[in-house]
Amino acid sequence: MAEKKTIAVMGATGAQGGGLVRAILRDKTGGFAARAVTRNPASKKGQALAAAGAEVVAADVTDQASLERAFAGAYGAFCVTFFWEHFSPEQELADATALARAAKQAGVRHVIWSTLENTRKWVPLSDDRMPTLKGKYKVPHFDAKGEADDVFRKLGVPTTFLLTSFYWENFIFFGSGPKRGPDGKLALTLPMDDKKLPGIATEDIGKVAYAIFKRGQEYIGKTIGISGEHLTGDEMAAALTRALGEDVRYNPVSPETYRGFGFPGADDLGNMFQFKRDFQQAFCGPRDPKIARGLNPELQTLDQWLAQNKTRIPLE
Ligand SMILES: NC(=O)c1ccc[n+]([C@@H]2O[C@H](COP(=O)([O-])OP(=O)(O)OC[C@H]3O[C@@H](n4cnc5c(N)ncnc54)[C@H](OP(=O)(O)O)[C@@H]3O)[C@@H](O)[C@H]2O)c1
Repeated sequence: MAEKKTIAVMGATGAQGGGLVRAILRDKTGGFAARAVTRNPASKKGQALAAAGAEVVAADVTDQASLERAFAGAYGAFCVTFFWEHFSPEQELADATALARAAKQAGVRHVIWSTLENTRKWVPLSDDRMPTLKGKYKVPHFDAKGEADDVFRKLGVPTTFLLTSFYWENFIFFGSGPKRGPDGKLALTLPMDDKKLPGIATEDIGKVAYAIFKRGQEYIGKTIGISGEHLTGDEMAAALTRALGEDVRYNPVSPETYRGFGFPGADDLGNMFQFKRDFQQAFCGPRDPKIARGLNPELQTLDQWLAQNKTRIPLE
């Protein structure tokens, strides 16, 4: 049998990378092997990946030499950065640059870069409809990712640019789920008015990424936007109501109100939702669910995701 092509996967113990590792390991005859990159192979999650059949290697995204070792001999690399670990767009750009340089140095033949829009192309810093944050950003956790696209291009790294969407897992882990008001009723609070929010199950990001690696050359140099469904606040609240068997109301607030909620990153997320609300065509257009479904026929809708995950949503 021909030797398998190795895909080095950043964030392998996390959401996007974890889904990709599982997709590779499930496809026993697909011709690919998973190299899971973690800071700590001895951790429980690292050991579980090894037991499932992945090669598990140590690297830190802030240490380019460790990335070069992790990418050595790999056919592909899935590159993702970890904004919410540090909240620094400068750090994110530096990490993405280290990933691109390491991929170039190691001669990786296909990189998927998990990116997002540089929103300043639509909302220049001079545009005061939303505040400028951290000195030179509109949506810090988007802008540096989008800026990093050019680093991959300039270095000549053979890259597919993967535009991801709002994880429905944010209803579980990120504090974005329905909350009980003083009246005891559940409400889903988002600053989206009646506009649509593209969302996706994180497991599907990994499945789509794997399909892109399998199709290979035809996707190099392309930007691929993915989502499971585009839904309004009312539609998401209705899906939550059906799944939870309890009324969930959509509570639309203004971006200003959302930015003022005060939790870490509220201003960044307020600007993000405002960008998605005010630039629907630019944001939803490239993320037509047909694209993701063509690559991953198992793509979940929100109803399907909720059927599997509703009991994991904390209802405080
Ligand atoms: N939440 C959303 O809706 C959403 C949507 C689109 C894009 N994103 C973006 O997704 C990115 C995060 O990806 P994710 O959600 O897949 O991550 P995640 O689930 O939070 O997992 C990240 C994994 O990466 C590893 N990691 C953290 N710091 C690292 C470092 N310095 N070096 C190497 N590995 C490190 C950790 O593994 P070890 O501890 O094992 O090293 C962790 O398990 C963020 O940049 C975010 O902006 C999020």
